[in-house]
Amino acid sequence: MESSTKGIYTLPGNQEKIDLLNKKNEEALLGGGEARIAAQHKKGKLTARERIHLLIDEGSFQEIDKFVMHRGKDFDIDKEHFLGDGVVTGYGNINGRLTYVFSQDFTVFGGSLSETHAEKICKLMDMAMKNGAPIIGLNDSGGARIQEGVNSLGGYADIFYRNTLASGVIPQLSGIMGPCAGGAVYSPAITDFILMVENTSYMFVTGPNVVKTVTQETVSAEELGGASAHSTKSGVTHFSCANELECIQNIKKILSYVPQNCEDIAPIYPYELKDDESRAVLNDIIPDNPNHPYDMREVIAGIVDDSSFLEVHKNFADNIVVGFARIAGRSIGIVGNQPQSMAGVLDNDASIKAARFVRFCDCFNVPLLVLVDVPGFLPGTDQEWNGIITNGAKLLYAFSEATVPRITVITRKAYGGAYDVMNSKHIGADLNFAWPSAEIAVMGAKGAAEIIFKKEISESENPEAKLQEKVDEYTAKFANPYRAAHRGFVDEVIFPAETRAKLIGGFKMLENKVDKIPRKKHGNIPL
Ligand code: HXC
Repeated sequence: MESSTKGIYTLPGNQEKIDLLNKKNEEALLGGGEARIAAQHKKGKLTARERIHLLIDEGSFQEIDKFVMHRGKDFDIDKEHFLGDGVVTGYGNINGRLTYVFSQDFTVFGGSLSETHAEKICKLMDMAMKNGAPIIGLNDSGGARIQEGVNSLGGYADIFYRNTLASGVIPQLSGIMGPCAGGAVYSPAITDFILMVENTSYMFVTGPNVVKTVTQETVSAEELGGASAHSTKSGVTHFSCANELECIQNIKKILSYVPQNCEDIAPIYPYELKDDESRAVLNDIIPDNPNHPYDMREVIAGIVDDSSFLEVHKNFADNIVVGFARIAGRSIGIVGNQPQSMAGVLDNDASIKAARFVRFCDCFNVPLLVLVDVPGFLPGTDQEWNGIITNGAKLLYAFSEATVPRITVITRKAYGGAYDVMNSKHIGADLNFAWPSAEIAVMGAKGAAEIIFKKEISESENPEAKLQEKVDEYTAKFANPYRAAHRGFVDEVIFPAETRAKLIGGFKMLENKVDKIPRKKHGNIPL
């Protein structure tokens, strides 16, 4: 139908209406315009839509709220409108599974968050919650839309509130692809995993200029809050990625190990059981000298399905290793002490890192495998004054309240309180295995002998020989798994090579485990 004139208005015909929709669609795709897209590319960054294109299965992305515009009026901002208002929102599939995604568009007012920008994100979060699917946020934003004042701050709080309600219900992942500063950091911080891109992203509560004014420190944005700082020093980010593509690939990988929501289980990958699942390589990992290190990652590689280990928090607190893997095609979460870093001791950072991972796995029905080689908690004023009591308790609490299938393998040392904490039988582990090399005791033989035979050693004619005699006696009595096995604290002492087969069988046996913690509003984990 052609256009017609009614009074002062010229009414469009159908073809013109279709042309108008095409025009609006094209306009929306351009975000803040070609010049700003070029500037974004010049910084080595992709646009919001290019990121979604890489993340979501080809042809499956369904955008919503493409034509939303801001309602700001101050400082002439109403003279400038961009369709979509700085964030692309929608849903689609990742490896065939429904996922919601919002991607901030830095080309529109620097990706800053207006009231309407926040409304779009909140609408998407509500949809993700109702439909029980993960939500991914790709952050690239100058923070609160300065021209909107408290409307923007309110928008942030609306998002934080939803992040909190969604926590433990649907997986929430945050990719940081550019600036993420001020209070804006608290949305990613509440989500389950943060991934940052090296050199082009940063997160901080206050930037370098404010830092300079308040503390007189001179520091660059990258040093203060780049991927390196947050993956090694603060532990805020779980993955430091070389570029945006690696970041997006890691997001997809994480999702492959986790279910859609807390009522679901993770995808099961096809796996045909072999007649012999033993792995001889495991026999040779533990050194003869109990004080020599080895790499717990080698133990993990010897246990899990080939190349299935995805390490989380790789560069932070490397005295403990955590990550996802598959065993006979099924997802598990692994927590393992790392003897090659500080002898695998538990300290503040390691306790916090592991506790958070355990809680994620428990929220989302991912069974836990705990590999133990721990000489105890790290002594010292630094540790005590920074709260090793509270932080160690976090890990103890996290394991104790976890109702997912939980299996422990003690490969070598399990000393003192750390024995209890590392998923011992006493705090609800389902199956506890030990290798013949296991040493389950209150402490190492030398320390123990020095305390309990102090008088005898000092009064001896040859204290050194006496000490050695007592160390040997203590070692013979306690540096083995059999005391614990006699009491049933260890269910079975197994050959290292048969560990994988035992775990396949163990997790299969626990497949339908039902366990409940007492009814409560929520627990009070020592924060
Ligand atoms: C409105 C913004 C903006 C903002 C950037 N822009 N940040 N518009 N509100 N917060 C606009 C710029 O005017 C510019 O518009 C475009 O985005 C790109 O910005 P540039 O400065 O040219 O880019 P770049 O040099 O890359 O610098 C990026 C930046 C810088 C470091 C993020 O823009 C910046 O410092 N912005 C302000 C950051 C900030 O202080 N935000 C408030 C934080 S407090 P044109 O038209 O030229 O393209 C906060 C509180 C949250 O967020 C509280 C939650 C509880």
